[in-house]
Amino acid sequence: MIDILPIRTQRTNASRLAELDFDTLEFGKAFSDHMFAVDYRDGEWQEAQIVPYGDMAVSPANSALHYGQAIFEGMKAYHQTDGGVALFRPLDNWARLNSSAERMCMPTIPEELFMQGLRELIRLDSAWVPTSAGSSLYIRPFMFATDGFIGVRPSDSYRLVIFTCPVGLYYSKPLRVRFEQKYVRSAEGGAGYAKNAGNYGAAMYPTKLAQQEGYNQLIWTDASEHQYVEESGTMNAIFVIDGRVVTPALSTSILDGVTRRSVLQLARDMGLVVEERKVSSREIIQALEAGKLEEAFGTGTAATIAPIATIGYEGHDYDLPIVGPQAFSKRVSAALDAIRSGAGADVHHWMVPV
Ligand code: COI
Repeated sequence: MIDILPIRTQRTNASRLAELDFDTLEFGKAFSDHMFAVDYRDGEWQEAQIVPYGDMAVSPANSALHYGQAIFEGMKAYHQTDGGVALFRPLDNWARLNSSAERMCMPTIPEELFMQGLRELIRLDSAWVPTSAGSSLYIRPFMFATDGFIGVRPSDSYRLVIFTCPVGLYYSKPLRVRFEQKYVRSAEGGAGYAKNAGNYGAAMYPTKLAQQEGYNQLIWTDASEHQYVEESGTMNAIFVIDGRVVTPALSTSILDGVTRRSVLQLARDMGLVVEERKVSSREIIQALEAGKLEEAFGTGTAATIAPIATIGYEGHDYDLPIVGPQAFSKRVSAALDAIRSGAGADVHHWMVPV
């Protein structure tokens, strides 16, 4: 693709790259040298810029801070075996950002603006892309309201920013999770499918309570009956029951995960039966007791494929079987890694070189 938009670039004269230890990367703590920023004003996107990563001045009256008019995405770029850098399914994230924008009364972003901004930013900071297995460049696009006005109505002006972080694993060991049966992440008709900031802020308190009980994350259940699985913390939830790959069907209360979508596609490619349907917490526990729950794991851009070791349900902890190298989660994780690094065939054309 040819770059056509003028993006004004101001390079840093004080790179922080030499301070980064690529061997001890933690998720979300190190930020690459530059960020992309573009404002929306008077009904149109203004001139885009790439500037040194740093603090931004905003009106204290903006409606992102007061009413949560803020959305984001999580995506990744990977070092390639041929030495280049490629993005994983960036157009899926662009489309979801626009779907979140519509839900939150924010302007949509033209594909060229998003993709060209991403490409130029990542080319400029390509030395920040980690090369070791399991690491990647996490990309955080986000948009927020910028009007200085505290009446409750959609802002007229916005800022889209993209910054990047070299990252290692989000979860370093198999997870202890429990079904949540009191608090609700989202109801049907709510904004659970959108990646808006408030979904994550409101999940922190119930998650904190579960963490105080020794769990890493929650598995949210539906708002009306607390019976059916929705998603888990920062991930979609997938189960392998009696050889079938089972996951909650998408709805207005569940995030349409790009990793979820990719895992289900690879499962179908491997000839497995995939069931996207309602799945209850009771079904999961009964399958576990009957020895039919083979695997449970979360999927997400940050989390990648995160195995679940223990599930708490109605006051009891249920341990899942230890999985071997032939388990679906291991095979699909290896297949995804191969596609992302360029070592495996990318038959679905998911990788986009920068
Ligand atoms: C992601 O997986 O990219 C997410 O957005 C989850 C979380 C870090 C908020």
